[in-house]
Amino acid sequence: MWGGRFAAGPASIMREINASIPFDKRLWKQDIAGSKAHVAMLARQGIVSQADADAISAGLDTIAAEYEANGVPVNLDLEDIHMVTESRLAELIGPVAGRLHTARSRNDQVATDFRLWVRDAIDEVEAGLVGLQRALVARAQDHADAVMPGFTHLQSAQPVTLGHHLMAYYEMVRRDRSRFADARARLNECPLGAAALAGTGFPTDRHMTAAALGFAKPTDNSLDSVSDRDFALDYLMAATQASLHLSRLAEEFIIWASQPFGFVKLPDAYSTGSSIMPQKRNPDAAELVRGHAGRIMGCMTALCVTMKGLPLAYSKDMQDDKPPVFEAHDLLALSIAAMTGMVETVTFRTDRMRGLAESGFATATDLADWLVREGGIPFREAHHITGRAVAAAEEAGVSLDKLPPEKLRAIDDRIDDRVYAVLTVDASVASRKSHGGTAPDQVRARIAQAMEELG
Ligand code: ARG
Repeated sequence: MWGGRFAAGPASIMREINASIPFDKRLWKQDIAGSKAHVAMLARQGIVSQADADAISAGLDTIAAEYEANGVPVNLDLEDIHMVTESRLAELIGPVAGRLHTARSRNDQVATDFRLWVRDAIDEVEAGLVGLQRALVARAQDHADAVMPGFTHLQSAQPVTLGHHLMAYYEMVRRDRSRFADARARLNECPLGAAALAGTGFPTDRHMTAAALGFAKPTDNSLDSVSDRDFALDYLMAATQASLHLSRLAEEFIIWASQPFGFVKLPDAYSTGSSIMPQKRNPDAAELVRGHAGRIMGCMTALCVTMKGLPLAYSKDMQDDKPPVFEAHDLLALSIAAMTGMVETVTFRTDRMRGLAESGFATATDLADWLVREGGIPFREAHHITGRAVAAAEEAGVSLDKLPPEKLRAIDDRIDDRVYAVLTVDASVASRKSHGGTAPDQVRARIAQAMEELG
C-alpha cells in the first residue's frame, strides 16, 4: 500500500512484528461500521459522489457477510484489519474503493474502532454484572435471617446473617457498574475525522459521523483524538476493580468449601475431582476467578506502561493497546459468568454456619453493650468484665448464653437474668438495626430496594 516509497517488501521479521491483524481482526464489525458512517458523510458533504459511496457501502456489507461466515483472513502482508478490509474492498469493487480513505487516517480509524469495541465490551460487562447482582439478591433473600459468624481477622467476631454477607457483594458490584458507566460516558466521543493528527482540509461533518456511530459528540482536539488511550485504561481499571471483588468472593467460597469451615458445598459443575485423592472436590472455578484477577491487573499495568512515555501523537507502540484489553475482557466476562453460576447453585450449609456462630463467643459484644445499657457501666470496663465471662465460658466449655446465672453474677453482680435475652445469636443479629446493619429486617429492606434498582 505504500509501494511508492519502498522498493523491497518487508523482511519476514518486520512483517511479523508490524502486523496486528492476528488480534485486531476482532475489530472488524466496528471497522466496517466506522467506514460506512464515514463514506455516508463523504457523500453528503459532496466529497465523493453518491454512486461511489453506494458502491463502497454495498461492498462493505458484502465483506461483513464474508467475515461473518468465514472469519477474517489473516494476511500479515496487509498488516491490520483496516488494510485487510480495504484491500478486499478493492478486489470487490475496483479502484473506487480507494476513495473511502479520503479525509481520514488509520490513526483516527483505529481510535474510533477501538472506542466502539470497548463501548460494546462495557455493555456486555454491565449485563453480566446485573446478572451477578440478581443472583446475589436472590440468594440473600433466601437467607436474610440465616445466622453465620461474621469475621474480622478471619476470627469469629460478631454474628451476621448470610443474606447480609451476600448483599455486601451486591454493593461492591453496584459500584463496579457505576465505574463502567463513568468510563462509558467519558469514552463516548468520536475521534473519527481527526485524520492523521491535525484534522483535514476536506469539508467533513464530524458531527454527522459521531451521531451515526452513537457517540454523544465528536472529540474536540485532533491530536488528543489519535493519541490517548485513556478510554481503554478506564476500562482496564474498572475491570481490575471488578475482578478484585470477584476474587474476594471466590476466595470466600474457597475458604467456605474447605472441610474445617464446611459452610458451602460447591456444585459439581464448578468443581473438579483429584486424579489421585478420591475424596477431593476442588474449587477450581473459584480458584481461577481468583487467578484471573491477577492477570487482569497485569493487563492494566501493561497498557499503563505502554502509554506512560509516549509523546503526542500516534506511535506504533499504541498498536499494543489491544491485546491486553481483549485478554482482560475475555477473562472478566468468563469470571463474571463463573461467579454468577456459582452464586446461583452453591449449597449453603446454614446449620453449620449457625453452629459455628454459636460456638465462637460471637455475642461477647452484646454482653458488653448490655452492661453499658442496663448497668450504666463505661464501655471499657464492660469490655473487661465480658472478657472474664468469655474466659469462664471457655473454661466451662459452653457458649456465653449457656453460662449459669450464678457464674455470671460471680464475675459482676450487676449482671442479672435479663442478659440472656441478648446472648443468643438471633437476638444479637436482630438487635443490629442501625442503617446498613445486619438485622434481618434491615437486610430485607435493602433487598427490596435492590430489587427495585435492578428493575
Ligand atoms: N494497526 C494500527 C494500530 O493498531 C493502526 C494504526 C496505524 N497507523 C499508522 N500510522 N501506522 O495502531
